[in-house]
Amino acid sequence: MTSALPTRPLGIIGGSGLSSLSTLELTERRVVRTPWGEPSGALALGRLAGCPVVFLPRHGFGHTIAPHEVNYRANIWALREVGVQQVISVASVGGIRADCVPGSLVLPDQIIDYTWGRGSTFFEGVDNPVTHVDFTEPYSMSLRAQVRAAAHRCGEPIIEQATYGATQGPRLETAAEITRMERDGCDLVGMTGMPETVLARELNLDYATLAVVANPAAGRGTSATVIRLDAIEQVLAQAMQRAHRIITALAAEFSRSAA
Ligand code: HPA
Repeated sequence: MTSALPTRPLGIIGGSGLSSLSTLELTERRVVRTPWGEPSGALALGRLAGCPVVFLPRHGFGHTIAPHEVNYRANIWALREVGVQQVISVASVGGIRADCVPGSLVLPDQIIDYTWGRGSTFFEGVDNPVTHVDFTEPYSMSLRAQVRAAAHRCGEPIIEQATYGATQGPRLETAAEITRMERDGCDLVGMTGMPETVLARELNLDYATLAVVANPAAGRGTSATVIRLDAIEQVLAQAMQRAHRIITALAAEFSRSAA
């Protein structure tokens, strides 16, 4: 029997440590131009576990685009342009909260923005009416629930709530900055969560982040006096495989529910 497939592909934005999806059955690389300029690269269109997906590595295929230089507007616009309605983003982060140890997979439910000078809205320019979007719940609750369920199905433990603090980068933070962020209520620190998250909201896309803890944040645990960048790569290599499993389970469920 031929099954009906979802007409809208699942968007996957890969972060550091996930610049390609090894199990993606690639059908096309598509260059999409947007009113906001060039996305981080050509979109990789294909199938994952039977589900149509579009993959885009946030930092480019050769990991050359720094967090403050990513064209977040072009990336989100391009995904919408090819029909994406749901976006799962994978992002490496530092852990601030004690249980967010290296290797943990975390599904943040809140975000605090410390970035500056990034193109952070589609609603600007004299020709555009002033538009405010609701951002009380920055991530899609339904997509988060689907990611949580996918993690449970493949037996991967996941931390289900956390506040992501988005910093400017590309430098890492000082210990005092992390202490301030902790006081603010941040559990994780990363450099790419904003404006990506709000831009998805502005285009009414369902968006969730699967954060992969690469290191204790500055001044914490084994990062007490220095963050060991060589250790980060090793942690990410292993943890990204688990993130990949969860995303594959998510895609499999999407393709089942569309059948
Ligand atoms: N800080 C900011 N971004 C990060 C970190 C960090 O410690 N680790 C991975 N991404």
